[in-house]
Amino acid sequence: MSKELLLSKAKEARKRAYVPYSTFHVGAALQTKNGNIYLGCNIENAAYPVTCCAERVAIFKAISEGETEFVEMAVVADTERPVPPCGSCRQVMSEFFAQTMTVHISNLQGEVKTMSVEQLLPFSFSSQDLSDRDGKVSE
Ligand code: THU
Repeated sequence: MSKELLLSKAKEARKRAYVPYSTFHVGAALQTKNGNIYLGCNIENAAYPVTCCAERVAIFKAISEGETEFVEMAVVADTERPVPPCGSCRQVMSEFFAQTMTVHISNLQGEVKTMSVEQLLPFSFSSQDLSDRDGKVSE
């Protein structure tokens, strides 16, 4: 799928954002290796921290459907610069995507910035860091 088509899917998803508190609509589209596309929009809550970003909604939908291999992601919001994903979403991307996978971030003016997962979150904490321990509490 072309970058443009994935971005248009993200824009479509953005329209379904549930954002009564911020009024900030975000859409995401995630393409999997086997050709499926999972869409996400941000979903807010009166208890603000319960909110889930568009990127994580798309990723969690895909994971919960058994997807394990991802090709690229597009994210769009009405921002002056291409919308920077939040830190939590970057950490989740880093858990499930290859470090070299590309994420197209954009805005409604059509500006697009393509970044790798590694560029979005360098030196990220990973499962490797958990397994490199001996299980003892050190002083
Ligand atoms: N948000 C996203 O959905 N993705 C981003 O990349 C940045 C922030 C949402 C969370 C919240 O609903 C609103 O934008 C304002 O922070």
